[in-house]
Parts: sequence; structure tokens; C-alpha cells
Amino acid sequence: MSEQLRYDGQVVVVTGAGGGLGKAYALFYASRGASVVVNDLGGSFTGEGNSAKAADLVVDEIKAAGGKAVSNYDSVEFGDKIIDTAIQAFGRVDVVINNAGILRDTSFKNLKDEDWDLIMRVHVYGAYKVTRAAWPHFRKQKYGRVINTASAAGLYGNFGQTNYSAAKLALVGFTETLAKEGYKYNILCNVIAPIAASRLTSTVFPPELLEALKPEFVVPVVGVLTHKSNTGDTGGIYEVGGGFAAKLRWQRAEGLLLKPDASYTASAIIKNWDKVVDFSKNSTFPAEPNNFIELSEKSNQLPPSEQGEKIDYTGKVVL
Ligand code: NAI
Repeated sequence: MSEQLRYDGQVVVVTGAGGGLGKAYALFYASRGASVVVNDLGGSFTGEGNSAKAADLVVDEIKAAGGKAVSNYDSVEFGDKIIDTAIQAFGRVDVVINNAGILRDTSFKNLKDEDWDLIMRVHVYGAYKVTRAAWPHFRKQKYGRVINTASAAGLYGNFGQTNYSAAKLALVGFTETLAKEGYKYNILCNVIAPIAASRLTSTVFPPELLEALKPEFVVPVVGVLTHKSNTGDTGGIYEVGGGFAAKLRWQRAEGLLLKPDASYTASAIIKNWDKVVDFSKNSTFPAEPNNFIELSEKSNQLPPSEQGEKIDYTGKVVL
């Protein structure tokens, strides 16, 4: 039998660990030897109210099983206090799981500023505050592992979730840059788009699906990415849940490169539109932006573009 992944001597901060995915992470790390900060504000799924009960119940469960854990009841908006709890209770922080989340779903037409702002504050500002407070510790000890929590809604969009989608995709960009800045300090940062039965999803999925989508079927992937044996996987986006795990990446079509002069017109673009949008030939999977120095050297040597159909902006195509 292969050995279990263990986190002995490490301190793991899990935000929103009073229920759902966060609770499953907290129980996992504690059962594998880590000391865990169980953070949870204890409010409703739309972000109202607060209570110590959610975090305390999980801490009780961990302690009853012989593990080490401490509660923290602050909103992730005060992430520095959560990291303070880790330092005061256990003297260090090794892993941050930014998991806390709420929903304020409504059609874009009906979206109110307060629904936009609260979602941004909890998901984006919250992940920023917790990670920002942990960062100096990570750099100093040359070790840190971060998981941010995106969502399929952020990657693909979903009706009624403009605020949530925007926040969740923001966490992808956040992770990609953290990964670049953290790498030389052995701080590895990845982002997951999980799917799991929880109070956020229990009304959406039928019962048989809820069973297959237990939070426990997200935990192992997070465990692998945050383990010290992961020495290089960083900046990745992973879809995880129900026994499925897959990394995602960006894909760039071959692209259209024309001479940037007066011949660069809408009708020249229309003539070559396939190259802009077609992934079937010569597409690439970039991890970096285009090299515009190289591109401009190439494009300047091109002849002026051939014009195709003329566009007139009254909406007509003039042939
Ligand atoms: P959940 O509602 O069971 O757990 C979220 C926890 O975060 C709750 O215990 C809540 O009290 C806590 N929380 C909320 N606001 C907080 C704040 N300001 N400060 C501290 N704690 C706070 O939901 P679930 O499903 O476990 O979600 C966990 C994460 O996964 C969330 O970020 C969610 O957006 C994300 N997610 C979940 C999916 C799913 O299928 N369950 C799908 C995609 C993303």
C-alpha cells in the first residue's frame, strides 16, 4: 500500500470551513497531522448574520478525533486576523485554502450594487486579504501552498450570476499572478473550479447526484496540490468533483497578422476572419502573452493587406 500524504508539523488555514467543502478540507488536513485554523463567519448562504457555531462544531469534531484545530470567526474581509489566529495558536502558516463563499444570484437586470459589492468583497477581497497576510510568512520560510476557489460560473458564465462569475474569474487571474510572484520562494498557487453537494447547491442537484458529488471527492486533488511533494505544479486551473479532475488551459487560435498601416481595415479583417477564430489549425496553448516585439518585426515586413468586403457602419455590407 502506498503511503498517505501527511502534513505533520504544518499549519493549514481553511476559510469558510464551517460546512461544505471547507469542512471537508479541515477534517482531511487535521486527520493527516496538520494543525488547522477553522475559519467561518457562520452567516447565511447570502452573507447575512454570523455565528461562532459553524467553526466551533468542526473544531470539536477534529479535537474529538485527536486532531489539532482552532476556530476563527472573522469574515475573510479581515483576513489578517485569520492569519494572526494561525500565528498565535500554532506559530506559523504553511497552507491557505481560500474557500469561503456566498451567493447573491439574480438576473443582471435586477442586480443591485450591494449584491455586486458583497460578492466581490467576500470572494475577491477576502482571498486577497488572507493571502496577503500569509505572504510574508511564506516568503520568509520559503514555503507556501495556496488554493483559490473559482467556479464553472466564472470560467463559462451562468445565468443569474454576473457578480459571482466576475468574482470567480478574478480569482483565476489572482492565482496566475501569485504563482508567478511566488515561484522562486517555493510558494505554489493553484485555483480550482469545484463541484460539490453543499448548501449552495443542494437545491440545484437531484439527490442521486448529491451523493456522487460529496465534498470528499474534491479534497484529494486539493491535498495533492498543497502537499510538499508538489514541487512544480503552480498557476493551474483545475475542474474537480464527483471523481473527475482535469486541468484547463488557454488556447489561442493561429491568429491573423496583417501589416499595421492604412490597409488594416475592417474589410481586410473580414476577409481573413477564419484565422482569428479557427482553433482547428495551428492553434497554441500559451502560458504567456504574445511576444509583440517579434510580431511587430514580422508584421512590418508584410505587404499591405488585401481588402475584402467594404463595411459601411449603417450596418450594410457593401460589396
Ligand atoms: P458552503 O456554503 O457550504 O460553504 C461556504 C462557507 O463559507 C460557509 O460555511 C460560510 O459560512 C462561509 N463564509 C461565507 N462568507 C464568509 C466570510 N465572509 N468569511 C468567512 N466565512 C464565510 O458552500 P460550498 O459549496 O462548500 O462552497 C465553498 C466554495 O466553493 C465557495 O467559494 C463556493 O463559491 C465554491 N464553489 C462551490 C461549488 C459547489 O458545487 N459547491 C461550485 C463552484 C464553486
